[in-house]
Amino acid sequence: MNKIRLKDREFILFITSDEIEKAVTKMASKINNDMAGKTPLFLVILSGAFVFAADLLRKIKVDCDITFVRLASYSGTQSTEKIRELLGLNEVLKDRTVVVVEDIIDTGHTMDDMIHKLKNLEVAEVKIATFLLKPAALRKDLKIHYVGMEIPNDFIVGYGLDYDGFGRNLPDIYKVIPDL
Ligand code: IMP
Ligand code: MG
Repeated sequence: MNKIRLKDREFILFITSDEIEKAVTKMASKINNDMAGKTPLFLVILSGAFVFAADLLRKIKVDCDITFVRLASYSGTQSTEKIRELLGLNEVLKDRTVVVVEDIIDTGHTMDDMIHKLKNLEVAEVKIATFLLKPAALRKDLKIHYVGMEIPNDFIVGYGLDYDGFGRNLPDIYKVIPDL
């Protein structure tokens, strides 16, 4: 199916599950190389990253722990600057190598906020792994270590990403068809 409808908007197929799988495999192999000999803690940012994290982490071969934090910044199709932390960090992060796993970095506010929190918790090092990046939307000076794909500044759904709660279950990624 090339076109789908979610609530009041139409979306068109943008990235297929085959292309996604290839990009995830590449990311995992880079992370496996870089993390050899370390025991990283993967910190998955819910909700959007749950699908990507499940795919990525099954390809990670080094010993690791996995934990989750739940954040939300989007309202409809607009990023808000207020990041709400809905499920807190409760692991011991001090002196750990932390790999933050995110579905998408848009303005970068969510990730910037998270990096500051992690630095306050005295982690040994932080790496950022995001499946998608919208370079044209980025407003923060972030060092992003692992990126699956760079995409234009369009609103997308699928593969964990939602439009007002819908579309997270789609195996492919779709982009919004703008209102004329
Ligand atoms: P940022 O704080 O602006 O970088 O936004 C990051 C968060 O907004 C991500 O973790 C996503 O959950 C959400 N987000 C950003 N762009 C999109 C999109 O195109 N579709 C759905 N959610 C998005
Ligand atoms: Mg997210």
